[in-house]
Amino acid sequence: MGETRDYDIVSPGFHADPFPTLDRMRAEGSVVHLRLPIVGRTWLAVTHDACTTLLKDHHIFARDPANAGSRTQARILKCLPRTLSLLAQNMLGYDDPEHRRLRGLVDQAFQRRTIEAMRPMIVDVADRLLNRLQGRTEADLMAEFCRDLPLSVICAMLGLPERDHDRFKRWLDGLKDTANIGAVIRAVPGLIRVVRYLRRVSRPAGGALPEGLIAALRDVATDGQTLREDELVSMIFLLFGAGQETTTHLIAGGLFTLLSHEDQRRRLQDDPNLMASCVEECLRHVSPVQMTKPRFATQDVFWQGRQFRRGDMLAGFLAAANADPAKFVDPHQFNIARNPNPHLSFGTGAHFCLGFQLARAEISIAFERILSRFPRIALAGEQRAIAWRRRLGIRALVRLPVLLNA
Ligand code: HEM
Repeated sequence: MGETRDYDIVSPGFHADPFPTLDRMRAEGSVVHLRLPIVGRTWLAVTHDACTTLLKDHHIFARDPANAGSRTQARILKCLPRTLSLLAQNMLGYDDPEHRRLRGLVDQAFQRRTIEAMRPMIVDVADRLLNRLQGRTEADLMAEFCRDLPLSVICAMLGLPERDHDRFKRWLDGLKDTANIGAVIRAVPGLIRVVRYLRRVSRPAGGALPEGLIAALRDVATDGQTLREDELVSMIFLLFGAGQETTTHLIAGGLFTLLSHEDQRRRLQDDPNLMASCVEECLRHVSPVQMTKPRFATQDVFWQGRQFRRGDMLAGFLAAANADPAKFVDPHQFNIARNPNPHLSFGTGAHFCLGFQLARAEISIAFERILSRFPRIALAGEQRAIAWRRRLGIRALVRLPVLLNA
């Protein structure tokens, strides 16, 4: 086994400028061994090639540790209260055929045509949020826009009533900082409230709107064959969790990056046709989801020049893959016209992000509406004064202070 390194991939300093650390890791090899808070010792694939194989070769690398001979996770889940352990019963934690069965139930709802049909609703949500800023000179777009847009959109898609949105925000607030075990424990009461609420709302006459995804899935669940109630609650929680935080930090980090690169921002305003490639470059450069969930070696295997044992834990460090000079010209550069841009921000393989079309639609609508309502928007204060959260795996700004009419 290689040397265990203490690379800092959690601190605000790392998140402010991740590229030097990512380059040092890649210089060490395509897979590095390090110690992470909460996760413990693990391997990280840090090149584009290694990440891609790790996520695509499902025979050698499994998501479910039980398929790699490890009973540890199953034992830990048994010790947890049912309310929490059921959250692990989602597609992202399983391998096929369980994974395929669960994903198949929601695939349709996330297809391009369905998401296209949601665009007017997303524009309406964005405009209503921006109306509140009209006439003001300054705003914190993190608190007043970036958090609210994905939250309202996913709630509308699921069919959760609008009056519950604020409660959700409060309950999930603790999850904003999960870089240490204390913060994770503090988040538990909020999580339990969310699960209880979702269980209630996913029952008949529980309050979910009839046109939403919860009602559609409940109809599937009532036959009891294809989806159990626990799986339904867990699925909603996954969609809700995966759809909100990730998109919030893509929009906030993307806007911050665009506004910090005056030339690129002018380029986009001069040529709105660059929006699609700008979105892809924000995904690559910001890499809001920095790493995948762990994979487990299903067998002893010699891979990327190293010997791995059955049960070894590895994760794809997407942020490092997205800055790999073997795949991207001038990877540190933020270039909104970059083409091709084969970033791995949505992962790859069987667990490729289900919500990628929705995330793309949300960020492009957010940028379009903000720049058309506030064409002279600028960062407020020194760029270096912008603070990043201490967090593992998600690149998250604390605030995004802007001058609306600079
Ligand atoms: C910027 C926005 C987003 C990013 C960067 C992102 C990133 C990712 C990544 C990297 C994975 C794979 C994780 C792994 O392989 O371990 C993933 C999976 C997933 N994402 Fe996203 N995501 C985003 C938005 C969304 C949205 C809006 C939704 C839905 C509402 C969503 C739902 C999911 C689901 C359900 C999975 C699991 C898929 C499976 O296991 O087959 N994501 N996402």
